[in-house]
Amino acid sequence: MYWRCPVCAERLELVGKSWRCANRHGFDQAREGYVNLLLGHRRNSQAPGDNRMMLQSRRAFLEQGHYQPLLDRLIDCCHDLSDGRADFTCLDAGCGEGYYTGHIAEALRERNPSMASSLAGIDISRDAARMAARRYPALHIAVASSAELPVEDHRLDLILRVFAPGYVTEVTRALRPGGHYLTVTPAAMHLYELREKVYDTPRPHDETPDTLPGLEPPRRESLSFPLRVLGEDVARLFEMTPYYWRADREKQAEIARMTRLDTHAAFHIDLYQAPRLRHSERDSRRGCGR
Ligand SMILES: C[S@@+](CC[C@H](N)C(=O)[O-])C[C@H]1O[C@@H](n2cnc3c(N)ncnc32)[C@H](O)[C@@H]1O
Ligand SMILES: [Zn+2]
Repeated sequence: MYWRCPVCAERLELVGKSWRCANRHGFDQAREGYVNLLLGHRRNSQAPGDNRMMLQSRRAFLEQGHYQPLLDRLIDCCHDLSDGRADFTCLDAGCGEGYYTGHIAEALRERNPSMASSLAGIDISRDAARMAARRYPALHIAVASSAELPVEDHRLDLILRVFAPGYVTEVTRALRPGGHYLTVTPAAMHLYELREKVYDTPRPHDETPDTLPGLEPPRRESLSFPLRVLGEDVARLFEMTPYYWRADREKQAEIARMTRLDTHAAFHIDLYQAPRLRHSERDSRRGCGR
């Protein structure tokens, strides 16, 4: 995985503990192993993205295996898409504390030990990058925005977006011809019983798959399963969702006291593909040394 310089877009190389480009821009690798490629003036707040509480709650909840069926499905999809290639490159955009990226990387390496360490994640939250890099040292992790992916043009075989914002112009720029974009979004009834506790009349999530210019229409599969959440996991689940921030203090406290929640997890997994090159384009690209 090669990061690109957020200042001049040249390729970055790791020299000692610093990522450097040909124009001498440098970005130090943090102790935990991630690199901050988000330029100060591109941040729209002091600490953008998810905060530590949300990240810790999400990690604690996910590690109980509550969303294991989703993780298993993503592992299978990534394995199929990697097609056994050792040089497969995948970026998880908005990777959070690294649960899906880290476990997918481990599973792919287990299934195909010759696969180079080519899974990477970016997140706009520095705390997320720190947690992901510390827990999953084999991943390449950077602080960056999905609105400006720090990767070279047409470099990636796969971009993952799991419950995170996406920017299609960056996706089409970064994907190689024929590369894939795999998104996970909540289905209409996702966590409906939790939302009922927060809102008087919860609205179902919008389920229309996005039409993304420059990508072929998606192949959709849906996944849903019952979820029984007990003890502290109820508060954790609540805190890792945006519903927490929309609830008033009283509601937050009321849900934090709950010790049991029976609900459903329901996801849409949409797989988009970038068009393959036409023959004439492929021939001219070969000429450019690809
Ligand atoms: C709901 S969390 C999902 C995290 C992870 N994909 C998961 O499912 O466990 C959304 C993540 O997107 C990150 N995020 C928000 N805006 C972003 C942006 N513009 N670029 C990159 N990451 C962003 C947040 O910091 C947060 O970690
Ligand atoms: Zn540079």
